[in-house]
Amino acid sequence: MGLTNPGQKISPEDHARRVREMFARISKRYDLLNHLLSGNIDQRWRRVVTEKLRPLIPANADILDVACGTGDLTVALFENTGARVIGIDFCRPMLELGARKYPQLSFVEGDALQLPFAEAAFDAVTIGFGLRNLSGIKTGLKELRRVLKPRGRAAILEFSKPTVPGFRALSGAYCNYLLPRIGGIISGSRSAYRYLPDSVARFPDQEALASLMRDVGFDDVAFQNLTGGIAALHIGRRAR
Ligand SMILES: C[S@@+](CC[C@H](N)C(=O)[O-])C[C@H]1O[C@@H](n2cnc3c(N)ncnc32)[C@H](O)[C@@H]1O
Repeated sequence: MGLTNPGQKISPEDHARRVREMFARISKRYDLLNHLLSGNIDQRWRRVVTEKLRPLIPANADILDVACGTGDLTVALFENTGARVIGIDFCRPMLELGARKYPQLSFVEGDALQLPFAEAAFDAVTIGFGLRNLSGIKTGLKELRRVLKPRGRAAILEFSKPTVPGFRALSGAYCNYLLPRIGGIISGSRSAYRYLPDSVARFPDQEALASLMRDVGFDDVAFQNLTGGIAALHIGRRAR
């Protein structure tokens, strides 16, 4: 069964349960497929997050990496910024893989929509390929803002809309035809890799996401397209 069918209304609780179960199902193959299906570009994108964030945060910063999965962005932040970093995710099998790979990091089990942290606890929050999976994008953005110190930064790495028309068609064909087949065979879950392009198609484009960020109280919002807009990195500052 697909995660969601177009037009089907499901409750936020059902959405969360299905997303959690889907990542639990593919967790063992998640890293392999990420690197294989993206030609390892995903790791370069995560490095860009750390490079852009580093000059914007204080020394000895505290960073929360939300929807951290198996910890690849968490570890990149830890290694490239010198910050204290906590990874949080609501899918235990993903977290367990992260904890096994990176025993030097701190991982917490919890929901991105109800973060178990006080208001204004972090200098920066990051979310890599996670926002798209939340049942409410705006609620998720508000929760990221809540745990940030005033003037703290949120960095959002997510798939986006390719900006060059020919490239857009090519990447659409790849995502809609090849990716579900390869992902399905290797992970054993065709629906998970069908859900991926569907969720990307439903996600706001670069400008729309920047505008949502401003709506919930971020200023100084800017984005950078990565690999022709296949992904984008948005950075915003908690306004007050
Ligand atoms: C595509 S993975 C991204 C993992 C990691 N950030 C990376 O860059 O590889 C998405 C992750 O979001 C997590 N996730 C989705 N919804 C969540 C929620 N409401 N709260 C916490 N984690 C969530 C999933 O469990 C999954 O591990």
